[in-house]
Amino acid sequence: MSPLLEISPLTDCFGAVVHNFDLSKASAEEDYPELRKLFEDHSALLFRNQSLPPEDHLRLARMFGPIEDRKKDERQPGTGPEVSLVSNETGAGVTDEMDLHTLHLKANQQWHIDSTFMPVPSLCNILAAKVVTTEGGQTELASTRAAWAAMPEELKQKIRGRILGHNYRRSRERISMELANLPMFNKWPAQRWPAVWANPVNGHEALFIASHVFEVEGLSPAEGDALVDELMAFCTQPQFVYSHQWQVGDVLMWDQRATLHRGMPWPYEQPRTLASVCCSMTASDGLETARKAVSLAC
Ligand SMILES: [Fe+2]
Repeated sequence: MSPLLEISPLTDCFGAVVHNFDLSKASAEEDYPELRKLFEDHSALLFRNQSLPPEDHLRLARMFGPIEDRKKDERQPGTGPEVSLVSNETGAGVTDEMDLHTLHLKANQQWHIDSTFMPVPSLCNILAAKVVTTEGGQTELASTRAAWAAMPEELKQKIRGRILGHNYRRSRERISMELANLPMFNKWPAQRWPAVWANPVNGHEALFIASHVFEVEGLSPAEGDALVDELMAFCTQPQFVYSHQWQVGDVLMWDQRATLHRGMPWPYEQPRTLASVCCSMTASDGLETARKAVSLAC
């Protein structure tokens, strides 16, 4: 294993800044075990001054798990998943504020976990800043692990043991029905996941909750919505939140099993481009345990 990496706290309750480490040279044998340990321990890792071209970005991500492939059904046979660009720039320039493309970016300004609406959810997102704005455009993280640890028992009891229904459409409906009706937001059937997940390495529990939640099983729609709102409000209090102001070269990655995130608005006439690669969970990341919990709840 490589020498111990130099880290400092990202916030008082979660996250770490990793110093003097070149992610483009990370090796699966030498560096990944320590990076993975930091990921499990801290939930979010920030690396500054990185140059991470697409091939290195994908190579790094593959160490954590299979690359998530949302467009498998749209790609030519024989081609593989690519780095996704989270951007308001298209071939025709910067998209208008009310353009459906921009509205999709705005939908990601709701607190969420990526891909809870997919049959295999995402373990982590590795996000790299390529074009940044002069103001706004932060990415914010909220630790549902730290929030769960601090949550009053009375509130915990309302959600512990419950199953949440997730779909992609739900988070888009709040922004625009035209957006929600697009095929890409109706591609996957609703998924059911436990509301609370325990990290399989260290046992820390965290809420697995998102703007994609459309039901809390066992509660009426009104009761479920109210409980989700209450839990979200608790988890996103300032003491559990980190707001990252991007600089070109920053790479931020986080554990989706213990972290909510959202983008923040920016002047939409300015281009903003983040390169993103999500890895899918595997059985040993807690997926198998979650599926068993759901099947037992049937
Ligand atoms: Fe996201």
